[in-house]
Amino acid sequence: MRKKVFIANWKMNYDFHETTFFIRNLLKIVFERKINHNKEIILAPSFPFLHISNQILQGTNLNIAAQNIHHKDKGSYTGEVSAYMLKSIGVKNVILGHSERREFFFEENNVLSEKIKIALKYDLNIIFCVGESFYERSNDQQFHIVKHQLKETVFQCSSDKIKSFYIAYEPIWAIGTGKTATFEQAQTMHKFIRNLFLEKYGESISNKISILYGGSLNDINAKDFFYQKDIDGGLIGNSSLKLEKFLKIVQS
Ligand code: PGA
Repeated sequence: MRKKVFIANWKMNYDFHETTFFIRNLLKIVFERKINHNKEIILAPSFPFLHISNQILQGTNLNIAAQNIHHKDKGSYTGEVSAYMLKSIGVKNVILGHSERREFFFEENNVLSEKIKIALKYDLNIIFCVGESFYERSNDQQFHIVKHQLKETVFQCSSDKIKSFYIAYEPIWAIGTGKTATFEQAQTMHKFIRNLFLEKYGESISNKISILYGGSLNDINAKDFFYQKDIDGGLIGNSSLKLEKFLKIVQS
């Protein structure tokens, strides 16, 4: 059985105090309520707080993720952060391909493919996001778009690398908008993605890969999504900023 995975994507929101306060309280409750049995919880704070977050989580089975990396490991790239650096502070996961990176920072599949290579070089697990825009869904292009996004990035990797991936299906029109895909739409896409893995890498990999849903998930709608056969957890933005909401999602 695939583990359920819950990733809190805090984006550019929390400062040092908010980050550490949240994590300490979360840890307390997770252990009191024994929440993380057969569940994986990953928190994605901003770069300056990854180190302290990792230190607080030492010896627990909660983990952290970076929200981005540069596609080179070192060099004259003012303001950038590399996988090489993250590895040195014990970061084990990174989110790549998020639609906000694609839209506001013009990250295309070719750059994402380079980022994947560098992340794998430094043994980072990759939470790789795919998803269509509202326009693309309105024109029934969602399957074509998601297939193309995977083909040009993740599917460039050999089968032995796929164990390092989580896939997050995040329809762009549902991110931060309060509109979610229906759970039927999400399940259909997740099944489609799993089938793509089946065709490319075979049954064992397609059965094992975790495919998460993201896009306006909250404590009310989460259980309908997580009940679906091919939805293995969530990538949660807004609702991960409130501890009780996030906990309810994890417990859904
Ligand atoms: P949201 O964000 O839950 O606020 O829609 C999800 C994401 O961007 O990963």
